[in-house]
Amino acid sequence: MKITVLKDSDRVARALARRITDALREQPDLVLGLATGRTPVDAYAQLRRMHQEDDGDWSRASTFNLDEFAGIDASHPGSFRQFMQHHLFEGVNLDPSRIHFLNGAAADLDAECDRYEEAIHQAGGIDLQVLGIGSNGHIGFNEPGDELLARTHRVRLQPSTRRDNAPLFGDDPSHVPAEALSMGIGTILRARRIVLVATGAKKADCIARTVNGRIATRVPASVLQVHPDVEILLDRAAAVRVGRT
Ligand code: PGA
Repeated sequence: MKITVLKDSDRVARALARRITDALREQPDLVLGLATGRTPVDAYAQLRRMHQEDDGDWSRASTFNLDEFAGIDASHPGSFRQFMQHHLFEGVNLDPSRIHFLNGAAADLDAECDRYEEAIHQAGGIDLQVLGIGSNGHIGFNEPGDELLARTHRVRLQPSTRRDNAPLFGDDPSHVPAEALSMGIGTILRARRIVLVATGAKKADCIARTVNGRIATRVPASVLQVHPDVEILLDRAAAVRVGRT
């Protein structure tokens, strides 16, 4: 894993935005895997600004988001689809037909997961996957536990994850859906290139366990150690325990 430590979260945001626009320039039909959460928001704002300044042509790119809540549809204000619309999609020239999302309101959620895997495959696979990391070490909604699932699947969310997502649901964790759909660990590991971003002292522990520790289902992000092209972009606060166990 390549670890890049930058002075502050602003520089992390700029670095992530730069990685994405460089990839778009090199490969205009880039298949980009995207993440929600607070960490990439500033990078998405930066990408919108860059696009306004003619830096970043998204017209031929495709996107696949990592995950979505179950039981709500794409128009629900708490959905990740709306989050992405607000923070990124409405500010760049993506073709709406190339924006791909898991449908949390599908009648058959297992079939929806299979459809998503197939759609990624049909698009030629993900070229660049952006990841955040939960303070419990999750990536996407692959939560710590005794096992990890390879394919896109349904997930029962842990209480800490529902608390973390409460701001999207009127600050009430009980309003956060109990279930979600998520790309699996295998889906993520098949991306040709991965950039994970983490900022702030609260991420120092899970980052240390991801990069220094053993590969363990209790730390889902630790599986990234086996991927040949992973960069971890950190601010100083998130990096303080890297190299120490
Ligand atoms: P955060 O979430 O960026 O809001 O910390 C990351 C995640 O849970 O994957």
